[in-house]
Amino acid sequence: MNQGTPVLLSGIKPTGEIHIGNYFGAIKQLVDLLNTGEYRGYIFIADYHALNFVQDAAEMKRLTRELALTYLACGLDPEKVVLFKQSDVSAHTELAWIFDTITTMPYLMRAHAFKDAEAKNKEISVGSFNYPMLMAADILLYDAAVVPVGQDQKQHIEYARDTAEKFNRIFAKENEGTFVLPKPHIMPDVAIVPGTDGQKMSKSYGNTIPLFASREVLTEKVMGIVTDSGGDRPENVYAIHRLIKSEAELAPIYEEHKGKYKALKEALIEDLDAFIAPMREQYEALSQDSAFVDAVLEKGGEAARQAANTKMAAVRKAIGVSA
Ligand code: ADP
Ligand code: TRP
Repeated sequence: MNQGTPVLLSGIKPTGEIHIGNYFGAIKQLVDLLNTGEYRGYIFIADYHALNFVQDAAEMKRLTRELALTYLACGLDPEKVVLFKQSDVSAHTELAWIFDTITTMPYLMRAHAFKDAEAKNKEISVGSFNYPMLMAADILLYDAAVVPVGQDQKQHIEYARDTAEKFNRIFAKENEGTFVLPKPHIMPDVAIVPGTDGQKMSKSYGNTIPLFASREVLTEKVMGIVTDSGGDRPENVYAIHRLIKSEAELAPIYEEHKGKYKALKEALIEDLDAFIAPMREQYEALSQDSAFVDAVLEKGGEAARQAANTKMAAVRKAIGVSA
């Protein structure tokens, strides 16, 4: 793929077990976009971002590995996409520091995530406060043109754009050391996937259906979905079913089992299991082969470092710390 091909970049924090909300809301769309072949893809595991939440070495290792396996099992092709760990490329934190020096406190205090934490009277770490600057570095290091994220991350992309503009204004001469202004690609809300209690599925609410759940766990979770006793159709069951089958396919099933919630849940278990099985098998096969995952991340780290170091050489020159 040639150098003129636009860069698509995205990251996910390794902070918990991946659930079907993450899959339909983010991973699937990302893999589909990458498979169009229109972009050079850089996909990374945001472990330094996760360090704000996960402060246990064994847990960090486990979650990082699981996330790498998830990407691969969901169809990301490591031959075509650079898959790497953020911490393997020290330029991310180096550039974040440079951005810190041109960023003001009031500007960062306007971030939604910071305001939410403040409103809840949470004690926020300096790392969490600076989160947008590390994220700006992630994006700008690779001249990313397109950054697919959920709606909640849109402001962070705007921070990256503002920071690129500010740096360019202060330091860049001619075309040297300039940053490309990234655009968010807001993934269409395929739908907010509801959890087993009907609220948005989220690891923070304990209402998830894990993506690689065994048939037994799947059965237990689906049978536990809260159903309103009002209508003919259990909406929380239907909303998940809709992600894997069209309305036309579902209509006869929901007609046949009108008002019979147990039968409808059984139908969902069948369909969800059939949908997930190939990815789950791939996940299990890959998890037996730890050398393969290590090799993918190592090769990805190498490629990412190369791109990042080239950019950093221009940045260092632009700010006057190297010739
Ligand atoms: P969680 O809410 O479980 O903590 P994250 O915030 O780590 O999940 O989400 C990672 C990505 O998955 C986000 O980009 C978000 O768009 C997507 N996502 C998470 N939960 C859902 C959901 N219930 N429905 C749709 N997309 C979701
Ligand atoms: N902040 C993102 C999230 O919580 C993860 C992330 C970190 C990211 N760096 C990024 C996403 C760069 C896109 C680009 O979902």
